[in-house]
Amino acid sequence: MSATLLIENKAIVPKEFNKIARRYDLATGLSQGYGYDLEKSASLLQLKGDETVLDLCCGTGKSTAALLPFICSGKITGIDNSEEMLRAAREKFRAESESGKTEFLLYDAMQLPYEENSVDVIFMAYGLRNMPDYETCIRNLYRILKPGGKLLVHDYSLSENAWAKGYWKVLGYGFILPFCTLLTGESRIFSYLVRSVSRFLQPSALLALLQKNGFSDTHYVSHKGWREPILKAFYAVKPEDSV
Ligand SMILES: C[S@@+](CC[C@H](N)C(=O)[O-])C[C@H]1O[C@@H](n2cnc3c(N)ncnc32)[C@H](O)[C@@H]1O
Repeated sequence: MSATLLIENKAIVPKEFNKIARRYDLATGLSQGYGYDLEKSASLLQLKGDETVLDLCCGTGKSTAALLPFICSGKITGIDNSEEMLRAAREKFRAESESGKTEFLLYDAMQLPYEENSVDVIFMAYGLRNMPDYETCIRNLYRILKPGGKLLVHDYSLSENAWAKGYWKVLGYGFILPFCTLLTGESRIFSYLVRSVSRFLQPSALLALLQKNGFSDTHYVSHKGWREPILKAFYAVKPEDSV
């Protein structure tokens, strides 16, 4: 199976994550600032601590770990469609799951079994880019959020300047692809990563899509350091007066 096939049929992306689940934390651990950036994005939600938070495409739970310090009496539900990534998350957060603070569920993020207006907060880190249809996904997230509910999309979205695309290609093909292939023994998912980022929505297009689908207070922040041209946190709210 090639990276092109993954781009064309994103429903099978979680199966590729199954293959690298045991090495995922190692690979992302070498990416300096990975956890810090997730925490920074989680802080933008300004949680009170009692919310129900969906950590969509939670993987092995690195995004869950970033959310945990902000949750007291609330709950984080990690959702992913890769059995092996979820297995790693469940092992990592066994104590928190026993105390009811976390749970991990196997679902396709495109087909979430939640009622309309039922979720306080959705955090989606490195997830939206993997969806086969960004707009349908965003529309569904809007539907299940409560009025006043918040969405935070943390993902690679290339800045709208001449060199961000070139910078990403050098970074992706020159560093991420060779090093991650060496660490995990798998190359397809990393080749897919580089290509899917190159094709993903740039910031103004993603903001426009959020607004078109009813979200308000939409804005984004760029993460700092070497990831500034590529990594963004998009914040959006479902209006209180939405019906
Ligand atoms: C790059 S990982 C991100 C994991 C985690 N959020 C983090 O920040 O490290 C992307 C995750 O999205 C999951 N994923 C991809 N497509 C999905 C889908 N349609 N439904 C649910 N999960 C999906 C993959 O299985 C993978 O675990």
